[in-house]
Amino acid sequence: MAILDVVNYPDERLRQPCTPVEAVDGEVRALIDDMLETMYSQGGIGLAAPQVDRRLRLLVMDTSEGRDRPLALVNPEILEARGQQEGEEGCLSLPGVYETVVRAAEITVGYRDRDGGEHREGFSDLDARCIQHEIDHLDGKLFVDYLSRLKRNRLRKKLEKEKRLQAAPA
Ligand code: NI
Repeated sequence: MAILDVVNYPDERLRQPCTPVEAVDGEVRALIDDMLETMYSQGGIGLAAPQVDRRLRLLVMDTSEGRDRPLALVNPEILEARGQQEGEEGCLSLPGVYETVVRAAEITVGYRDRDGGEHREGFSDLDARCIQHEIDHLDGKLFVDYLSRLKRNRLRKKLEKEKRLQAAPA
């Protein structure tokens, strides 16, 4: 297993759409394991393939408190969505940024697991939020896209300023 480099906002690679996984083979399983290791090493609860520079419809997550319930969703598709929830989100591609986003409260998702098995499963609360956030990544969408233009401009200025400070000689 290996820890992979995470692509950071505003890198254009985060904006490209992903293609479905054709077969859950050894290569895909190795990628799943590397993505899980990367997610755990960064303290995240979810990670999508484009965040590690792979244009595949694949995400991993673990919302458990013990960090011992890894889940891989290959070719995930939201089949049904119900209700509304509002909560704070962060993203490993936008370190230090947390904003409130409205999501569906419950979703039914079709996906394949790490062994290629087919599932149709209901998720709610944080699991549902996490899956919606990660599926957005597969469509080239980021959680900051839901913010108002004013908030997004403020955020971009803040990130540009941080970048300048990092680049400045000590
Ligand atoms: Ni994210």
